[in-house]
Amino acid sequence: MSVVTESALTGLKAAYDRDGWCEFPYRFTDQAVTLLKERVAAISRERRPEVVHEKGSDKVRGIHGCHAFDEVCATLVRHPKLVALAEELTGGPVYVYQFKVNLKQAHEGAAWPWHQDYAFWSEEDGMPTPNAVNIALSLDDIHEGNGPLVVIPGSHRMGLFDLPEKGSEGDSDWQQHVSADLAYTVREERAEKMAAESGSVLITGEAGAVHAFHPSIVHSSSNNVSPDRRALLLITYNAVDNAPENPTRPEFLVTRDSTPVTPAADDRLGLQPRSQA
Ligand code: SIN
Ligand code: MN
Repeated sequence: MSVVTESALTGLKAAYDRDGWCEFPYRFTDQAVTLLKERVAAISRERRPEVVHEKGSDKVRGIHGCHAFDEVCATLVRHPKLVALAEELTGGPVYVYQFKVNLKQAHEGAAWPWHQDYAFWSEEDGMPTPNAVNIALSLDDIHEGNGPLVVIPGSHRMGLFDLPEKGSEGDSDWQQHVSADLAYTVREERAEKMAAESGSVLITGEAGAVHAFHPSIVHSSSNNVSPDRRALLLITYNAVDNAPENPTRPEFLVTRDSTPVTPAADDRLGLQPRSQA
């Protein structure tokens, strides 16, 4: 059964172009979520550079580039519906630019200050345009208290804010792209003003939910002050003709191979209609 029609995808693109984010009307099944969580738990126990911990703590903050070494994650990025969504939103074809899971552990998961992803990809990697898309898959139920993503609709159409002057700071350390001390942030007063004017949206919902958001949208997320973990899996698909020429950051942050993703279905990673709240 094809659960995502062409017209449904077209409707999503209109919302995405206008707001800079959209919600997929289908979610991954409980079975799929359980499988992905098992993989995340296993990878989190490994000692490797792709596994990043919270500052001064043994709590895992995020795991990176898993599609390159984990079979289930490699299968997920080829999911036909995800690839179709990414191609619709970017004009396709696409390849996987980044893959990460931000874990936001119960009580200890730290915030992500206001920022724009494209600031990193443009300034650090030389991505020519923001013609890429983030697909976010919730692995836990996400609510107001466990640090949901907050986006400012429409901010993706306003360019990049508050970039450091070229050459003023030298190359930032990649650790500053994955820690709470982010290298490229949008000033808090500016973001709060934008949010007051344009509104802001908390991306909450049940485990398995899928959202897309634009590389230039201004977004943040707060500390996890709840007893519930908030794991968010993020796949960034980039248009094949938008690959940076000579990126220098580690491969687990910037995939070098820009061969288009070949979609492939797998029964373990099923979708079902999203239940109405
Ligand atoms: C988060 O995991 O809350 C932040 C994700 C992002 O900034 O892309
Ligand atoms: Mn981000």
